Amino acid sequence: MSVSAQILAGEEGISASVEILWGGGVVGLPTETVYGLAGDAFQPMAVARIFEAKGRPLSDPLIVHLPEAGWLDRVAVFGSEEERRLVEKLAAVFWPGPLTLLLPKHPDLPDLVTAGSDRVAVRVTAHPLFQEVLWRLGSPLAAPSANRFGRISPTSAEDVHIELGNAISVILDGGSCKHGMESTLVALEVNLGQPSFSILRPGPITEGELRKYGHIASQGRIVNSPGSLPGHYAPKKRLQIMNSDMNLLPNDVLLGLLAFTPPSQEVCEKFTTVEILSRSGDLKEAAANFYGALRRLDQNKVDMILAESLPEEGIGVAIMDRLRRASYGSLHGTGHQSSETAV
Ligand code: TXA
Ligand code: MG
Repeated sequence: MSVSAQILAGEEGISASVEILWGGGVVGLPTETVYGLAGDAFQPMAVARIFEAKGRPLSDPLIVHLPEAGWLDRVAVFGSEEERRLVEKLAAVFWPGPLTLLLPKHPDLPDLVTAGSDRVAVRVTAHPLFQEVLWRLGSPLAAPSANRFGRISPTSAEDVHIELGNAISVILDGGSCKHGMESTLVALEVNLGQPSFSILRPGPITEGELRKYGHIASQGRIVNSPGSLPGHYAPKKRLQIMNSDMNLLPNDVLLGLLAFTPPSQEVCEKFTTVEILSRSGDLKEAAANFYGALRRLDQNKVDMILAESLPEEGIGVAIMDRLRRASYGSLHGTGHQSSETAV
């Protein structure tokens, strides 16, 4: 079936989305991080449609979205009272917001959502439109980022249309996403009264913010994330993170530059297209602009994209994580379509 998605706003978009979700369909919805491709987490057919529309392997689990922490008991159980108290504390501080917690899965939640894992990733999104859809539907929503598998995450309704416009019928327009980076994904455990966190995917909630509530364990110590493999978030064009020597730039190809701050005139002249992430060097602004700028460069007449490194502090850690993954296919010459890289 080939459809062309309608981008709808306001009440019209909310009620159309709820009706489709109610019937087991999938829709594009805005969150404060990136747009999601949502389906009712308790309707296995809806969950299957998400995987199908994205072209995502069934081995890569989905995040479940709730309108408030009070719904946690519907999708998760707690390993212990201590774990429950820790989650309640984190929820009070960071929810609604861009933090996803990995918790033991409730047996009633369809296994397809978690790809057979006994843990479920859960978050409460701060986006008022997403929240409104959740309240009206009355069921948690499974929602990965609304891009084709392995590709650039969408931060506007138009981006979702480019990615999935022929696979879904409605995209709810919530403008551009505030953070522009996917949520921080965290596994947690409490050992002898000591909470510890393992950051499986860096995001808007930083390590420094989490450290106030527990010890930061090395990545993957508590649990591994099937989706955090290299070769993700990839443009179609070759992408390389730039080393500082401008004299080594190839001169026989059209180059696009993804710059953190405004480059000098001399540097600009070496590129066909330049995208600037933040005029003032603000990392949060750079994050919000990141995927859109990468997408524009990818659509532009360039053969290759060079990206400037950003300071790895605050949300800069998440941006560099995405840049490294986006450049993986280019670096390894494997091409982005291969299953080894587009994971
Ligand atoms: O900000 C976000 O988190 C966005 C918005 C739409 O909420 N969602 C998002 O979902 O980025 P997705 O599917 O593109 O990325 C979710 C990541 C994947 O790497 C997946 O493997 C991991 O979370 N994940 C989900 N459930 C998991 C589970 N049960 N165990 C381990 N990793 C999990
Ligand atoms: Mg994604």
